[in-house]
Amino acid sequence: MVRPIVLLFLLCVPSSFAVKTSDFKTCAQAGFCRRGRALASRAQDNASWKSPYSVDSSSISVAPDQALFTAGVKSSLYPDIKFSLDVRIHDDGVVRVRMDEVDGLRKRYDEAASWALIAEPKLSREITWTVGNKDVRAIYGAKKENEVVVNLEPLRISLLRNGKEQVVLNGRGLLHMEHFRTKEIPRPEDTPEEGLDEDDVQVVMQVKPTAWFEGETEDGYWEESFGSNTDSKPKGPESHSLDITFPNHGHVYGIPQHATRLDLPTTTGENATYSDPYRLWNSDVFEYLASSPMSLYGSIPVMHAHSAESTVAIFNAVASETWIDVDHPTTKSSSTHWISESGILDVFLMPGPNPDEIFKQYTRLTGTPALPAHWALGHHQCRWNYISSDDIRSVQKRFDEHDMPVDVFWLDIEYAEEHKYFIWDKKTFPDPVDMTRDVEALGRKMVVIIDPHLKRTANYPVYKEASDLGVLVKSKSGDAEYEGWCWSGSSAWIDFFNPGAWEWWKGLFKTTSQGDKWSWVESTENTYIWNDMNEPSVFNGPEISMPRDNIHYGGWEHRDIHNINGMLLPNLTSQALVARSDPPKRPFVLTRSFYAGSQRFGAMWTGDNLGTWDHMAVGIYMVLANGIAGMTFGGSDIGGFFGNPEPEMLVRWYQVGAFNPFFRAHAHLDTKRREPYLLDEPYRGMLRDILRLRYTMLPIWYTAFHDASIYGIPILRPVHESIHFLMMPHYVVFPRDEAGFSLDDQYFIGGSGLLVKPIVHKDVTEIDVYIAEDQVYYNYFSHVAYRGSAKGKHVTVPAALHEIPLLIRGGSILPTRERPRRSSPLMKRDPFTLRVALDKTGYAKGQLYLDDGETFSHLEGNIVWREFVAEKTVKKAKTIKITSSDLVSKNLDTAVDGVSLTKYDPLNAFARSVESVRVEKIVVLGLSSKPVSVKVEGGEELVYEFTPGVAAEGKKEGQASVLVIKDPGVSITKDWAIVIQA
Ligand SMILES: *[C@@H]1O[C@H](CO)[C@@H](O)[C@H](O)[C@H]1NC(C)=O
Ligand SMILES: *[C@@H]1O[C@H](CO)[C@@H](O)[C@H](O)[C@H]1NC(C)=O
Ligand SMILES: *[C@@H]1O[C@H](CO)[C@@H](O)[C@H](O)[C@H]1NC(C)=O
Repeated sequence: MVRPIVLLFLLCVPSSFAVKTSDFKTCAQAGFCRRGRALASRAQDNASWKSPYSVDSSSISVAPDQALFTAGVKSSLYPDIKFSLDVRIHDDGVVRVRMDEVDGLRKRYDEAASWALIAEPKLSREITWTVGNKDVRAIYGAKKENEVVVNLEPLRISLLRNGKEQVVLNGRGLLHMEHFRTKEIPRPEDTPEEGLDEDDVQVVMQVKPTAWFEGETEDGYWEESFGSNTDSKPKGPESHSLDITFPNHGHVYGIPQHATRLDLPTTTGENATYSDPYRLWNSDVFEYLASSPMSLYGSIPVMHAHSAESTVAIFNAVASETWIDVDHPTTKSSSTHWISESGILDVFLMPGPNPDEIFKQYTRLTGTPALPAHWALGHHQCRWNYISSDDIRSVQKRFDEHDMPVDVFWLDIEYAEEHKYFIWDKKTFPDPVDMTRDVEALGRKMVVIIDPHLKRTANYPVYKEASDLGVLVKSKSGDAEYEGWCWSGSSAWIDFFNPGAWEWWKGLFKTTSQGDKWSWVESTENTYIWNDMNEPSVFNGPEISMPRDNIHYGGWEHRDIHNINGMLLPNLTSQALVARSDPPKRPFVLTRSFYAGSQRFGAMWTGDNLGTWDHMAVGIYMVLANGIAGMTFGGSDIGGFFGNPEPEMLVRWYQVGAFNPFFRAHAHLDTKRREPYLLDEPYRGMLRDILRLRYTMLPIWYTAFHDASIYGIPILRPVHESIHFLMMPHYVVFPRDEAGFSLDDQYFIGGSGLLVKPIVHKDVTEIDVYIAEDQVYYNYFSHVAYRGSAKGKHVTVPAALHEIPLLIRGGSILPTRERPRRSSPLMKRDPFTLRVALDKTGYAKGQLYLDDGETFSHLEGNIVWREFVAEKTVKKAKTIKITSSDLVSKNLDTAVDGVSLTKYDPLNAFARSVESVRVEKIVVLGLSSKPVSVKVEGGEELVYEFTPGVAAEGKKEGQASVLVIKDPGVSITKDWAIVIQA
């Protein structure tokens, strides 16, 4: 969503897209960032630079029965200021380091982690700290491979693995926590004004604040202006900065959201790609750049550092504005510098040692992604705006006329009268419930936007109730409601940090009357929600957001909580959607703003992108970066929010979207209509094929989502080595293959074995795909077999406009549903096809997860979770047996915390309801010879067709042999075996 002012500009110059960079600060325009960077450059120029911070050894206190020690920290700069250090090791080996100012003039915000974490982590009771003269250390791990060393003077914290440093805090001596201080007010005799009384005369408490470490001047300590806005900074300087180095890791990834490559380009050093650090300050950036370290809508301060030897990660649980410099002092090392405006220092070090373990460690902290409703993986059609209920009806009709599947129709802000969310504009939507019922007829849903700003008018009950409850954000004085400008004109913002807002907000979504209190009776249980503008976006605020000195619940300034702010709204909205129905249904909430932990509440998208090839490409990197930081349910707007993509671009964009977890087309008010049925042939047919392909693959996606949602649960054993996140970049799947560390334009779908490389350029007819292993990969469509190499190999894959480079990794079994339907709920009883892609040894494996797709009864064991295996009956024999077995009982012989799957019964109600669903076709790729018999074990000979393979010849790739077994008559819920005798 964009500001109308700039819309005019867009209309005038439709071809020149560009962010108004002057709307947003550079590091040099933010006092604390300027100070942090200046500190780093002074350190760099000073050969004798030494951190002034040290641990007071007399104050070290080790907890008697858990891996925790605390100590006082002092700074040689300010001997009177006290800091505390708290270092703990969790039972899974994650190290948490906290530092705060003690007995300061004020208290620092210390609640960022509590919003992100699912629970207070358990500390290890086995690991013990050893206190020495120079350091405190602990050795742990199954083979005693990990060691944490806290050097006392200067303070330096390192995590080692097998004696090699993995992460070092303050190794460059840039740690600095600016203590709270009193503003020096001139003495009465120095001032011309009268009437200053005794209390106003503040004594300068400390030594001159411009100590060598802090530079020459009090730069931006007490007040700052940007554009026409002035930040009053009543608390003065309280920033903190910390260098985090990865001495043995040459690649760093993560810290979304930025429009940049997955392998983060450098921001400092001789050949830096960007001159500014990566910024985390949730912002509504109009027409963002396709390559930039600028802030975008969400912030997840999580970074992976990777090498062929190991992966480590950090989560810096800070909620205030943060800038991060990235450099590689050598090709094998990474050096980062984190500068934050306020709050305590609270950093989690995840020891890895591989991406798989990092994901587990991170999801144990912040939770796994929620398992969405099945329909949410379908095709979403959005536009700003479908202008009336009849518009929705006619768009639906046209999708059906053109046999194009779609699950969800979306309404942007114009459905709401004067942008008063929840209130339909009756001129255009006279019959909202009837309209929704019409959409529901084919199992479809509606998603409607609800933003966190409320029109300030007494005739808007939602505003009135919030105001009466006193749950609106306050302006800097702390007593008046903050008033800003947004879609609804003069607006107020709900303060979701205020517990008083929580139950009230949940009540708003009830579809039945609540008497005097507002409830949304003009919605149905199939009205789901889009939370936009929750950075928050404020059209007339500093950097299009709220003033930093606004006051939230508990007296905290907006600056202290800004990056978390956007997470609370989708949290409560998703709770509201669960609460409105009985039995509860899984919620769907799309959010634009997010933070660490947001994966528990729903989906995100990459915001207001542009219809350009660059944006198409960067959208993939962004969704990958979000995924490795836990926020896996993501996608970017198909076609680009702005602009009128030509048909070729639109076709490519649907191909990209079909391989994103979240698959939505959206467009700006000023764009031409571009629903897929509007294109001419051959493009229209291509779009229909892509939409159908997505629906064919829903079982693969749903299984991958299920994997992601249970991954933190240790006992569940994944089929492949690392299955959990939906879009898996190469370094995750092949952590030792250096050639893949910077790859971000091809990726695997969960643990399915599907490798896709969407085309993001014009006029492409073929493309290079990288295969990282000595394994056969099959073209999904043509069954051409590509043989990789242990050293890595590039193969050429056809990629004309109607073709998507999509390979199946040998060793995988893919379940699909191939009957074209208009929406996913209509596929519930459709039969399955299994694609068995044999690896070079004749082996393959895959899984399928099913449940009712909409309630929580899967948590009571109402599921079907199958494993398929194809293997030789005896080593070296030619006979291959494909089996289907129950994966749940294999995994669930022990109770699992929090998930009551132990109640699982193979004959559960859901399984019984789909008992008659059968496998209608099995396609086996890569058999070495024609079978002489294909039978269900203990049964009849089956009907099959065999096409022999064609060996590779010279430069030409080979063609895999294809065996198609027709209607083997086996159920998807039962154990069975099919024997292919060669
Ligand atoms: C260089 O660092 C040392 C501390 O090791 C400090 O005493 C000195 O003042 C610094 N010099 C400059 C120019 O900052
Ligand atoms: C920076 O680039 C120049 C020119 O390509 C090269 O000679 C130099 O080694 C590079 N420096 C670093 C630190 O990579
Ligand atoms: C957000 O969700 C979590 C559950 O994941 C809950 O414990 C927490 O209280 C929620 N926060 C708010 C503000 O409701």
